[in-house]
Amino acid sequence: MMEQVNAEGRLTIGGADAAALAAEYGTPLYLMDEDMIRENCRAFVGALADAYPGDGRVAYASKAFCCTHMVRILREEAMLADVASGGELFTALNGGLSPEGIIFHGNNKTEQELRYAIENGIRRIVANGAEELERISRIAEELERKASVSLRLSPSITIDAHSAVQTSKLDSKFGVPIETGAAFEAVKLALSLPGIVLEGVHCHLGSPVFALEPYARAADVMLAFMTKVRGELSHTLNELNLGGGFAVSYLPDQEVRSIPEYVEVISEAVQAAAKKYEYPLPALVIEPGRRIVAEAGLTVYKVGSVKEIPGVRTYVSVDGGLTDNPRYMLYGSKYEITLPEQASKEKTQTVTLAGRCCENELLGKDLLLQPVKPGDYLAVLCTGAYNYAMASHYNRVPKPPVVMIRGGKPFVAVRRETWEDVCRMDV
Ligand SMILES: Cc1ncc(COP(=O)(O)O)c(C=O)c1O
Repeated sequence: MMEQVNAEGRLTIGGADAAALAAEYGTPLYLMDEDMIRENCRAFVGALADAYPGDGRVAYASKAFCCTHMVRILREEAMLADVASGGELFTALNGGLSPEGIIFHGNNKTEQELRYAIENGIRRIVANGAEELERISRIAEELERKASVSLRLSPSITIDAHSAVQTSKLDSKFGVPIETGAAFEAVKLALSLPGIVLEGVHCHLGSPVFALEPYARAADVMLAFMTKVRGELSHTLNELNLGGGFAVSYLPDQEVRSIPEYVEVISEAVQAAAKKYEYPLPALVIEPGRRIVAEAGLTVYKVGSVKEIPGVRTYVSVDGGLTDNPRYMLYGSKYEITLPEQASKEKTQTVTLAGRCCENELLGKDLLLQPVKPGDYLAVLCTGAYNYAMASHYNRVPKPPVVMIRGGKPFVAVRRETWEDVCRMDV
């Protein structure tokens, strides 16, 4: 993780003092290290350029953390963006990303979203199945355009992750299964549709994927399928998109593979499969989300109460909760916590971190922490991905701001919402 403890024993992020930023900007507060986000982008782009002899592209999965400033970073780091809704697509286009840099995902895109994507001539729409292929073709024809399409396949690979984030097994809403023959039929359909140019195929294993081997397996399964299409339908699919899912280290003892290790395994597996099936080396796309932003972020809260129930547990309640980080409630996700003003002190207490919502809602159970009292700042580490992105207005709690740090200097990337903002759409 990138958080560091300085000589005074205080937690820093991007060289700035986390507690001092909390005092300046208020809590709850998302802090993100822009320099680290950029380093991660460069690590993926550089590793792919080194490892893959064909056309290799890195598309950031916007769903992990999306805002206009993030789009600026992508633009400057020569990244593509994967978007999964009209809102993410709008943010990307509005933030100045070229349509040629945008890939549009989703298992049930609306008519309005598809129309918006096709009108803007984005790089790729990833169709989730036969109905969507027909819908895309119809809209493209109405607009007198051709939509550039990839087809999301389900390669029936189950990864070791929470069932909610296993997305490429047969029993999934995502993608067309290869195993049942539906994928082949969908390709046939796509090739017959006048409004579509079928450029490639896509799969996303799920998230997070700690092992390397599922990617190698996916590369082989996908290239075997592409070979079948080439052999039987005389159509060469030029692009293989293997999705994202690259794991990060949420806990101090959690070991993860490096970015180059993931990229090398994927590149080698695609090359090996292309050789085995005598298939021309396809353009390769990968879609990291979490790995770009998770470790670059942390959240600072203020402790409101410490409730010790002797022999049971100690509840530490903070001024945020599932409204700014629902991942414990959704997946039982584990995080490391610390007191930013005493970060070098030993963690001698086991606490349960509670939010402020009217639910038995937690941010984590049985977490080690330094001795804590009401009024202390408390930081949850590694919250850069799927936290701000998943924030909600439950209990009409306004969303916290995102303060980024670049070259040691903080600036507001997303403003704090007010109670008025929460009521803004009310009529
Ligand atoms: C199609 C697709 N690509 C990429 C990702 C990014 O996953 P991660 O953030 O784990 O890299 C996702 C996540 O859900 C996805 O659905």
